[in-house]
Amino acid sequence: MPRKIFVTTALPYANAPFHVGHMMEYIQADIWVRFQRMQGHALHFVCADDAHGAPIMIAADKAGKTPQQFVAEVAAGRQQYLDGFGISFDNWSSTDAPENHALAQDIYRQLRKEGLIAVKSVEQFFDPVKAMFLPDRYIKGECPVCGAKDQNGDNCEVCASVYAPTDLKNPYSALSGAAPVLKSSEHYFFQLSSQRCLDFLKRWTNAPGRLQPEVLNKISEWFKVDEQGHGGLADWDISRDAPYFGIEIPDAPGKYFYVWLDAPVGYLASLKNYFDSGRAKARGEPRSFDEFLADPEVEQVHFIGKDIVYFHTLFWPAMLQFSGRKVPDKVFVHGFITVGGGEKMSKSRGTGISPLRYLELGMNAEWLRYYIAAKLNSHVEDIEFNPEDFVARINSDLVGKYVNIASRAANFINKRFAGELRFLGDTGPMLEAARATAAAVQESYDGREFGKALRDIMAAADRINAAFDAAQPWVLAKDEARLAELQDVCSRALQGFRLLSVLLAPVLPALTRRVARELFLLDRDFAWSDALALPTRVAVYQHLMQRVDAKQLDALFEPSTPDPAATAAAGSIVLPLPGGEAIAPTITIDDFAKLDLRIARIVACEKVEGSTKLLKLTLDVGEAATRTVFSGIQSAYTPEQLVGKLTVVVANLAPRKMKFGLSEGMVLAASHADEKSHPGLFVLEPHAGAIPGLRVR
Ligand code: MSP
Ligand code: ZN
Repeated sequence: MPRKIFVTTALPYANAPFHVGHMMEYIQADIWVRFQRMQGHALHFVCADDAHGAPIMIAADKAGKTPQQFVAEVAAGRQQYLDGFGISFDNWSSTDAPENHALAQDIYRQLRKEGLIAVKSVEQFFDPVKAMFLPDRYIKGECPVCGAKDQNGDNCEVCASVYAPTDLKNPYSALSGAAPVLKSSEHYFFQLSSQRCLDFLKRWTNAPGRLQPEVLNKISEWFKVDEQGHGGLADWDISRDAPYFGIEIPDAPGKYFYVWLDAPVGYLASLKNYFDSGRAKARGEPRSFDEFLADPEVEQVHFIGKDIVYFHTLFWPAMLQFSGRKVPDKVFVHGFITVGGGEKMSKSRGTGISPLRYLELGMNAEWLRYYIAAKLNSHVEDIEFNPEDFVARINSDLVGKYVNIASRAANFINKRFAGELRFLGDTGPMLEAARATAAAVQESYDGREFGKALRDIMAAADRINAAFDAAQPWVLAKDEARLAELQDVCSRALQGFRLLSVLLAPVLPALTRRVARELFLLDRDFAWSDALALPTRVAVYQHLMQRVDAKQLDALFEPSTPDPAATAAAGSIVLPLPGGEAIAPTITIDDFAKLDLRIARIVACEKVEGSTKLLKLTLDVGEAATRTVFSGIQSAYTPEQLVGKLTVVVANLAPRKMKFGLSEGMVLAASHADEKSHPGLFVLEPHAGAIPGLRVR
């Protein structure tokens, strides 16, 4: 019986392009989706931009745009990533789309009718200049515990205390700088703490097979109430006051839904948008959106990251249940992908990789799909992108084990047998082994044990290669009497290759589509059943996949220092310079003029408590007030050596908030590119006669 499945990934905030974490989530979901489609299940896979909320409104304002313009620009950049990495969404919409406004308001009305909405007065900081209530993260001030300046509204980066924004001393608005005032306002709450909600959520979360065990554990902590009656679920504040970029709350002028209320509704809105456009019908789904969701056999599945479990396992199912809708059947939670975990790596290679840069470098998207799949399992575990490991997996598994089989066997078949495959004797045991592998892999994919699926596939590749080598086809090829044997050996290898290709199709859709069409001459992509059918002929082998060049990976990492090897690879001649790095690319005089370098006098200097690297400098740059600059030169200078000296400072560098305070510039010093192996730091000092404030040009 074909299953009917509705699959989503979390809706990304529409304030920035995708990062590698987003791509990891989409790749995980896409592999599962493609696998289920290959099983013949009817599946709809949708996502959308999460457009609303205060941060997006504020970012748009800063950029001088309307929020609508701002999110539209981000949305316009989405498709190149999705196409580039082969993510097969059926639809991409936005939470600001009309379908979402209507659905969110409907759901709210139904919850209100159920008596689950309460109104309470809430006291909150209000920015009198911007005339708006301030979200916590936009309130700053002095730490109530240690007195450190410019700390966030919820925790202190200096002493690590946690507190409420109202505890801050001398609070100010990060938006206007004004002192915020406490003001009360009516807020709307969804009564999650009601007995009905609790009963439902306990039942829903504990349904067998619904949630991963570690997720269920976490949730049971949230449910826990201690002897004093603390803990447990609290009612959820779902309203925000104007100005807010969001959806208006019915019958509540000036009130908007908090972004997390309408965000998951976007799953349904995107599905509706897809159904209403006629594209679901074109893909063989005759029913309307409402009819489809009313079908109790439809499975609703959400892929999400570990940071948004609360929203998806408490708020969202309760909203659906009490508005009389289908509730989610499965919430699949994954961990985070980290890049450049070790300090060693972040030094030489920077810390991030950009998915767009990956594509622009001409790297094969299916390498990343394969690598991520190989690291994933069904648990909430973080995975690390490790460049050496990446190169090894692709080159030894995909190219060395898998692609290799086809090139070797197809050459014999084409040169000696005009492309025809023929099997000698009993193919039963071979097909039996194939059936067992396919069954195991099938179970792994369905259970999101992708790493195991790929290990089983590569073990099968090892067996196919070993059998091929053991038969010594290059010996058989020299003996006219043994040609039938040669044909059989190559046919078996190609049957094996086809089996592997079918099993790899969810992970490598583009490559295996070429294998199906170009090598095995099908007029369609692989179906799961092709794993066990005997192929009859193959075309001439065409090159299938390049090996990864480690240099590409160096280029992928945003470099923290220019890399001489990369420059050499780009064609220019590099002499080994004593500084350990090549001269940076040429700039114009206009580029240089952007830097405002000034003479500064170091009027005070002290070690920074809690840091082994930093000195805190107080600089006279010829302005009315002195500046504070944190400089990583503690290893080379004591404060006494520096006080009174002149130096050079980058005076127009954007101030940087550091753990220990604001740094208002940068002092220039010389050092080797690899400070660890070539220690030594030399602060610049002008010739005698210079005075603070003179420009260096
Ligand atoms: N807008 C909300 C989700 C609303 S869903 C109704 C949001 N957006 S997000 O852009 O911050 O994150 C989108 C998804 O990416 C989330 O599932 C999140 O867990 C995931 N990831 C963000 N960083 C990640 C990694 N480094 N690694 C893997 N996934 C990560 O949250
Ligand atoms: Zn503090």
